[in-house]
Amino acid sequence: MSSTVSADQFLAAAKYRRTVYGLKGTSAVSDKRVEQIVGEVLSFSPSSYNTQPVRVTIVTGEKHKQLWDTIIKTAEPILKGAGEAVWTAMSGIFESHKASYGSVVFWESGDSIKAAGETHKSGAHMFGQFAEHSTGMAQLLVWTALELEGLGANLQHLQAIPPVEAEIKKFLQVPADYSLKAHLNYGDEPGPHSTTVPEKLPLSETLKIVN
Ligand SMILES: Cc1cc2nc3c(=O)[nH]c(=O)nc-3n(C[C@H](O)[C@H](O)[C@H](O)COP(=O)(O)O)c2cc1C
Repeated sequence: MSSTVSADQFLAAAKYRRTVYGLKGTSAVSDKRVEQIVGEVLSFSPSSYNTQPVRVTIVTGEKHKQLWDTIIKTAEPILKGAGEAVWTAMSGIFESHKASYGSVVFWESGDSIKAAGETHKSGAHMFGQFAEHSTGMAQLLVWTALELEGLGANLQHLQAIPPVEAEIKKFLQVPADYSLKAHLNYGDEPGPHSTTVPEKLPLSETLKIVN
């Protein structure tokens, strides 16, 4: 069966995704629809040997606010330790993430990576890296799909502060073998969707053709 979507249409859709900050605490897209989009991504997104190490938690409304309160409370003494200026800058950024509507949290299942290594012994040393690739692919699909649906989103990495990851795991009650990979805040956009792609390196530097 040939595709009903052309490569140009697919690329235009992918190019539509932007990092959007200053998100609103509302979502014109229903929780059910966001769940459907994330579920759809998980139903077809690729992984090495189809080992499926990606896990996702969706957090909305008041729970999203409480999640960010947990993050802020745990990060505060650590970031203050790096200097008052660091905390002043970061607390403002964290508060703006708390003000958004929801989070799509991406995890990697350590048990699934271990099991993949036992099933495919010769590739055991690769499954950690493969899982990173797989979660990145799922993140991009969810991020793009949510924005095509009319929302804005930005990608954060709270695992940068290990005690914060530990508190997020506790708050969201995920299994101990999960590790946090990314945190996509989403909500209605504060203004018109930007179509400006940040400047990229010239293709002469990033693309080589061998023929
Ligand atoms: C792997 C990866 C990690 C990123 N980490 C963060 C992050 O921790 N915080 C953040 O605000 N943006 C983060 N971003 C967003 C980038 O800054 C953004 O994608 C880039 O500046 C290009 O802008 P665009 O998303 O509008 O294309 C990340 C993006 C990628 C692909």
